[in-house]
Amino acid sequence: MGIPDIIIAVDGYSSTGKSSFAKMVAAEFSFLYLDSGALYRCVTLFALENVFIDGEGRIDEELLCEALRSLDLRFRCTGGDSRAYIGERCVESEIRSMAVSSMVSRISAIPTVREFVDEILHKAGADGRVIMDGRDIGTTVFPDAQLKIFMTASIEVRSRRRYAEMTSKGAATTMEEVVKNLAERDYMDAHREVSPLSRASDAFVLDNSDMTLHEELVWLKGLIQGKFGILEQL
Ligand code: DC
Repeated sequence: MGIPDIIIAVDGYSSTGKSSFAKMVAAEFSFLYLDSGALYRCVTLFALENVFIDGEGRIDEELLCEALRSLDLRFRCTGGDSRAYIGERCVESEIRSMAVSSMVSRISAIPTVREFVDEILHKAGADGRVIMDGRDIGTTVFPDAQLKIFMTASIEVRSRRRYAEMTSKGAATTMEEVVKNLAERDYMDAHREVSPLSRASDAFVLDNSDMTLHEELVWLKGLIQGKFGILEQL
């Protein structure tokens, strides 16, 4: 038997380790992993490349929303991983740049952008057996998800993680810039009008400031056993 064909929603602030956790869980239970933030990042990259954002950071919302009709976003998912594509072009590294990170919270606050992304997420999650991470998965995208997790970690730990992640990929940034970007995004994500980041009342909180990935998995298995009564299979 194993774990049922449920949707697992993982929400939380930036760099709380949602994607590492979700990828690990997807690989462990043969679930599909979907990174909803990657879609907002793709829209942001698309906006930057097509100059719907000018040099001063002003967004031409009308033109961008119109152009979304021609934007072909895809996921390719294998073995617990998920890679974002615009058409046939893999954009995984471009969407993690500081240029995209600095604009993505503002782009993701645009209601038409959220509708566009939500439609893709709904289709992708329709058959269940999926773990999706983001900011509003348990509150808005899949409010009926059978298991919801809200991840948190201290700002120091999160900044260190994001800095290490970016520099390991060769991105030119400083710790100061990373801390500032995280703080700004936390604020914008939690205060925007449409679907702000918040913990669903039925979400379980996972503070992983001092936890290894393995400890997170043990925690989750305990949760699943308690909630779904599946013992020996896990
Ligand atoms: O998870 P991430 O840092 O890659 O997400 C990038 C941005 O996308 C984040 O600052 C807020 C936005 N986002 C969102 O508004 N809703 C989601 N479900 C996922 C991400």
